[in-house]
Amino acid sequence: MAPALLAAVVLAAAASLAAHVALNCPVKPLPSPPPPPTPPPNNLLQRLERLGEGALDAPEDVYVDAAAGGALYTATRDGWLQRMHPNNGSWERWRFVGGTGLLGITPSADGTMLVCDADKGLLRVGEEGVTHLASEVDGSTIRFADAAIEGSDGTVYFSDASTRFGFDRWYHDFIESSATGRLLRYDPRSGKTSVVLDGLGFANGVALPRDEAFVVVCESSRFRCMKVWLKGEKAGKAETFVDLPGCPDNIRLGSDGHFWIALIQLRSPWLDFITRWTFTKRVVASFTGLIEWSKGTAKGAMVAQVTEDGNIVRILDDSEGKVINFVTSVTEFNGDIFLGSLATNFVGKLSLAQVIQQEQ
Ligand SMILES: *[C@@H]1O[C@H](CO)[C@@H](O)[C@H](O)[C@H]1NC(C)=O
Repeated sequence: MAPALLAAVVLAAAASLAAHVALNCPVKPLPSPPPPPTPPPNNLLQRLERLGEGALDAPEDVYVDAAAGGALYTATRDGWLQRMHPNNGSWERWRFVGGTGLLGITPSADGTMLVCDADKGLLRVGEEGVTHLASEVDGSTIRFADAAIEGSDGTVYFSDASTRFGFDRWYHDFIESSATGRLLRYDPRSGKTSVVLDGLGFANGVALPRDEAFVVVCESSRFRCMKVWLKGEKAGKAETFVDLPGCPDNIRLGSDGHFWIALIQLRSPWLDFITRWTFTKRVVASFTGLIEWSKGTAKGAMVAQVTEDGNIVRILDDSEGKVINFVTSVTEFNGDIFLGSLATNFVGKLSLAQVIQQEQ
């Protein structure tokens, strides 16, 4: 090909790409924080046992009811809250909510379950059915309710991951990195919802320490969790709780007062490359095929145990996602951890005694 013709072809291709991106780009990307270094793999999560395999469609969050001897609850993509009986391991479709967006579940003192429905907001699910507690705050729609925790005074803290994109387009929010997530507070006495903290990079898991001196909220697209003080002279102030080697999803208090945090692995050499510049983000986001392909390059699972002071105690992983991928929640009960995931049809169970022995 003559050099002039080649130049014309290259120019035409570049112009048509630029036009496509200008017309079709659904995101207004901002720079992503640089990805943190990855710790050496230990693949300890590969030893997990599978519970409810085949019966659970993408169990995002897992909660264990200690008072009921370890009954295990999860919410699945078919709109059900499902429960495993601890005595015989059998699963029961416990309560029906509907939809495909059931995410965080947490118990309420009155015996009901608080459920974050990404599409509908904060719900209370009990024997009498489903009650909508919050679907907007200060006139703005809660677009992506994600996780909740109830304090001892009945206040519910919960997250709204993004005000730009809903659950079906969570990946757009990650690529855009515009940090529009919020930590919200629902007051059961007044029925009012208010904003505790906004400007969060994909607001995700929410938890309280034993003394409820602060509330933690995880920011998936910033590789960290924040804390907002509830008591003492710093009440109302926000600061970093922990920086993590992955994107934190759900967080839960363990029986020893340490937290367990699931880290979704939105990392791959390709993804780290794409998220480096807003230009590459715009190109990828403009093509559905590139979106799906880039999402698919991220494999692996990781969870972290963190002290109340925000120090990482241990990291467990399945570095290439051979047994489990995309772990969205981790819950400790009676020496075991239970793992939820948006990429499995089971809940993972792992004995911590076995893990600790392996570490030594
Ligand atoms: C398992 O135990 C529960 C609660 O005791 C019971 O309702 C259920 O029928 C049992 N399932 C099986 C398969 O035995």
